[in-house]
Amino acid sequence: MNFFEHLDILPDDPILGLAARFAQDPRSQKMDLGVGIYKDASGRTPVMAAVKDAERWLLENEASKAYTSTAGVEGFGSAMTPLLLGQAGLQTSCTVQTPGGTGSLRLMAEFLSRSGVANVLIGTPTWPIHGAIFERGGLQVVTYDHLDADGQFNLGAMLGAIETAAAGDAILLHACCHNPTGIDPGAEQWREILAAVQRKQLLPLFDMAYQGFGAGLEEDAWALRLFCEALPQVLVSASCSKNFGIYRERTGLLLAHCVDARTRAAVHTQIIDTARCLWSMPPSHGAAVVTCILGDAVRRQQWLTELDAMRGRIVELRSGLCSALQAVDAYEPFQTLAGQKGMFSNLGRSVDFVQRLREESGVYLVGQGRINVSGLAPQRLNDLALALKAGLRP
Ligand SMILES: Cc1ncc(COP(=O)(O)O)c(C=O)c1O
Repeated sequence: MNFFEHLDILPDDPILGLAARFAQDPRSQKMDLGVGIYKDASGRTPVMAAVKDAERWLLENEASKAYTSTAGVEGFGSAMTPLLLGQAGLQTSCTVQTPGGTGSLRLMAEFLSRSGVANVLIGTPTWPIHGAIFERGGLQVVTYDHLDADGQFNLGAMLGAIETAAAGDAILLHACCHNPTGIDPGAEQWREILAAVQRKQLLPLFDMAYQGFGAGLEEDAWALRLFCEALPQVLVSASCSKNFGIYRERTGLLLAHCVDARTRAAVHTQIIDTARCLWSMPPSHGAAVVTCILGDAVRRQQWLTELDAMRGRIVELRSGLCSALQAVDAYEPFQTLAGQKGMFSNLGRSVDFVQRLREESGVYLVGQGRINVSGLAPQRLNDLALALKAGLRP
């Protein structure tokens, strides 16, 4: 008997599949602007010096490989919480360490569905697996388009979607550096979103995968903190993959801001119980590294300096691309690039445009033209501007 005969062979994951196609492309001038990992000026994703240093320390000092606990590495949550919420957050929240941001989102979904939350509102375009994670975690996903025809953030559409939601529904929000658009609401817009969420009694779920890549660690947490100051309950999924560059160590956190102490204790035990049946204990190495960096003044400063340099490079490359587009007289159709933040920019183009760029110019983009800005090489900005211009022709 073949138990699995009825199963279909699934297509490649859209982003990971693209990386495989890029690797097989023989053209020397190809450009990989697809997968969302930070790249330095030489196109590599090196281990940060602060991480290497923490790893050296751990190698010498880690005394046991016994289980940690379902809540994770001791000290990790209390080191991460001030980054996300500020010091005050230590009094109002509880945390569970997770395998990456993905694990955190999945744990969030499982916890929400067992707590009776039925629907989650998600603005599209978004990170492509957001919807599937929440669906498989047992929630009904309700999507709305949060960009207007010019590719700008459409606050009206978002507020309209919130209006149609029922009290008790959840809404997923990108805390900063929106993936894939690079477009975050402004401060006034965030205040309007908060007021609507509050009035409709929705539960905000923040996805914080790029803290430090937008305007700075504190600045990137501004909207999240605004919501936590105003609301009794907010859930946060945080990933250390990008800002510590420890993608493969699968390090993340589910944080529940929960003002009432009894509810907080109940939520914490329920999340722990949910995680126990998913992975039992999260992997410890990445969280130990992060704890070791954040808890040591020298390593922390080293990490901050490296993170600032990564952000500075992204800002420079994005503005360099704008100048290159101006130089080849093709800026206007791509002018939304200038106001975007974080590792990604979205060109808001058709699938045909993205395919043409890949086939004719060897430029690999995701979805509707998402660019990993850190994948740009300064000396190739002009090539990219010309390729984008050529891609526009009818
Ligand atoms: C918006 C967003 N959320 C979550 C994640 C998941 O991050 P991790 O690799 O830590 O699972 C990503 C990764 O690309 C992301 O872009």
